[in-house]
Amino acid sequence: MAVLTIKGLSKDFAGQPVLERIDLEVHSGEIVSLLGPSGCGKSTLLRIVAGLDPDYEGEVRVAEGEEGRSVGVVFQEPRLFPWLTVRQNILFGNKGHRERVEAIAEAVGLSRCLHAFPKQLSGGMAQRCAIARALLGRPRVLLCDEPFSALDAFTRRQLHDLLLDLRDRYGTTMLVVTHDIREALYLSDRIVVLGQTPSRVLREVTTGTGRSENEQAHLEAEILYELGFEREPLPIHVGEWAS
Ligand SMILES: Nc1ncnc2c1ncn2[C@@H]1O[C@H](COP(=O)(O)OP(=O)(O)OP(=O)(O)O)[C@@H](O)[C@H]1O
Ligand SMILES: [Mg+2]
Repeated sequence: MAVLTIKGLSKDFAGQPVLERIDLEVHSGEIVSLLGPSGCGKSTLLRIVAGLDPDYEGEVRVAEGEEGRSVGVVFQEPRLFPWLTVRQNILFGNKGHRERVEAIAEAVGLSRCLHAFPKQLSGGMAQRCAIARALLGRPRVLLCDEPFSALDAFTRRQLHDLLLDLRDRYGTTMLVVTHDIREALYLSDRIVVLGQTPSRVLREVTTGTGRSENEQAHLEAEILYELGFEREPLPIHVGEWAS
């Protein structure tokens, strides 16, 4: 079932086209990465889906959640309030869900930090708190705009695994913007590659689990080529990978 449907989405800023006739469907429980060069309109697209920018052409539909609030957003930086504890930050804007705070804190690994203040948290813990806040209202879609790009490689990998755990636990559908092809390959079921502005969908890649390192490397080279950053990759050996 499609939880997010985008049809013919176009957007310009003062007559400068940024997004051009984007079509995208994200299905229930699916993790889709949005990959594209800097300035191609990824954050613009996410802001439109989040309902933060009503000025666009085309159709953007998010399925209704059980409780109305159907979109949660996580940004590159955690955007926590320094004067509020972790518990209060998670509850910010979600006061009706007090009974869920312990469960969501446990799910993101922050059970023992509920009374801490943001300055006492590492970057990874702060981002866990931001994820908990975004998920507390049980949104139908979690939108993440380069959520891990400020973190070191080890913390990033732990948080990739956290998102995969949360998807398994709550069935959350996710749309994740990233610059990092390997992150997209590890995290997502599908990668949507956007081109330079006015950007269109250049390619959609279903990643699937169980691909060998060779196949992943080849896919990475293909996507880089698609984005104009690399020479055409050599064909992979016949029989090694049927896509
Ligand atoms: N509020 C705005 N007013 C005018 N132009 C804007 C505005 N927001 C974004 N743009 C322009 O729209 C284009 C897309 O910006 P956007 O931030 O969506 O790109 P992005 O793909 O998220 O880039 P990055 O990967 O660097 O975060 C850019 O050319 C940007 O300058
Ligand atoms: Mg951006």
